[in-house]
Amino acid sequence: MNLPDLKEARKRTNKEILVKTNDYIVKENLKELGLGKKYYIKTYGCQMNVHDSENIKAILEDMSFEETDKFEDADLILLNTCAIRENAHNKVFGFLGRVKHLKEKKPHIISGICGCMAQEENVVQKIKDKYKWVDIIFGTHNIYNLPNILFNSMTRKEQEIEVFSIEGDVLENLPVKRDSKYKAWVNIMYGCDKFCTYCIVPYTRGKQRSRMPAYIIEEVKKLMQDGYKEVTLLGQNVNAYGKDLNIDYKMGDLLRDVAKTGIPRIRFMTSHPWDFDDDMIKVISEYKNIMPYIHLPLQSGSDRILKLMGRRYTKDKYLKLYDKLKRSIPGVAITTDIIVGFPGETEEDFEDTLEVVRKCQYDSAFTFIFSPREGTPAALMNDDVTKEEKDKRLYRLNELVNEYANINNQKYLGKKVKVLIEGIGEKGNLFGYTETMKLVNVDGDKSYIGEIVDVQITDIKTWSLDGKIVK
Ligand code: SAH
Ligand code: SF4
Ligand code: F3S
Repeated sequence: MNLPDLKEARKRTNKEILVKTNDYIVKENLKELGLGKKYYIKTYGCQMNVHDSENIKAILEDMSFEETDKFEDADLILLNTCAIRENAHNKVFGFLGRVKHLKEKKPHIISGICGCMAQEENVVQKIKDKYKWVDIIFGTHNIYNLPNILFNSMTRKEQEIEVFSIEGDVLENLPVKRDSKYKAWVNIMYGCDKFCTYCIVPYTRGKQRSRMPAYIIEEVKKLMQDGYKEVTLLGQNVNAYGKDLNIDYKMGDLLRDVAKTGIPRIRFMTSHPWDFDDDMIKVISEYKNIMPYIHLPLQSGSDRILKLMGRRYTKDKYLKLYDKLKRSIPGVAITTDIIVGFPGETEEDFEDTLEVVRKCQYDSAFTFIFSPREGTPAALMNDDVTKEEKDKRLYRLNELVNEYANINNQKYLGKKVKVLIEGIGEKGNLFGYTETMKLVNVDGDKSYIGEIVDVQITDIKTWSLDGKIVK
């Protein structure tokens, strides 16, 4: 048993990061462990988790398990969890209730928790004490060992907990079963060292570890050969890519090399304003296959709150970067994340945030109420803003954000845009995204799926655009 330890998870040393190319192995006797058994995996949280689930699926299939999207049919149920806010927790514990109910009828079911909540001491303690029927818990650093964890659980019949609270290494040989045949997630770095005071990620994901460029380029080239049209380079703050490597190679260099592979569409996320350098901006504006879409989290427009958050930029610096991006990258769409109700946020601080939103007129924004995360500095700060006030601020912010989202969408009416058609939507129409990440519903038949087509925008809806193919 390896239990999570927050103090350990907080540590950062100069220990060398190892690139491991053969840690994942499925022993011969485990290759058929899942024969005749079905797995169901439910994924919460960010793209990092979505991509981890793609790894987990492939590992399970290496052990002969078969995927089902019907939770009632599963012999193995895994919840890949997120710890970013309290409501993410609540959703998981809510779903666990359903799993328990099903397990009462079908006791043979194996249930498990993985992902960021599995890295939290208090969560694991709670599951150990009150959810004894949960069979396995494994952390974000333990995915490679899933075959052995499952085997132990199935043979020992006791709760199997394997969570390392370490800085982490870089594993290069995990298999992957991708959800899409056209769009792929590609990790370029793991972990985060920014330690924004409200955020749990540096504790759940370990130290910043960049993958070596050659592995990334090779993966993109292989995806291209397999017919993929789009890659999204993933990391908690991709702009800091390479800073931990002992070679002189940064995000601008990586973007350039990925662009040179010729893959039609390249996206990247998330960008921390702090590390956005001029070379990156130059490369994005030079290469047509790097999409003009940037997610640039603001968090707050108040210098005082930004300082308390440990974001290391001011409102002014953010706005300067924002203007530079808009000036240098023609037609760029910019979206953001904003937290309201950070401890001690005054009406004046909040007004500063609104002012930045008015200036930036974002294409869209994800807005959140501050949620204290155990073990982070902000959880200990004096929080004197009432829940009612926080709700009101969120409402006011959303009104403003939606107004600009709508204005930005209106600009698309009658325009011709390029859309990568991804599939068939609920209403039977095709859907896909523009280069600027706008969702478009398109009339047409399924032969267009997987193609990048020219689409004329015919109507604007609140959260999407309608269009017809003009090619
Ligand atoms: N690495 C990204 C953020 C990942 S988390 C970045 O630095 O921009 C996604 C978003 O969740 C954050 O941008 C932030 O707005 C929000 N978030 C993180 N911790 C939070 C907390 N404790 N309470 C409320 N929102 C939070
Ligand atoms: Fe969290 Fe800040 Fe790291 Fe983003 S940069 S993951 S908000 S600590
Ligand atoms: Fe959530 Fe972990 Fe991602 S906390 S947002 S799943 S890195």
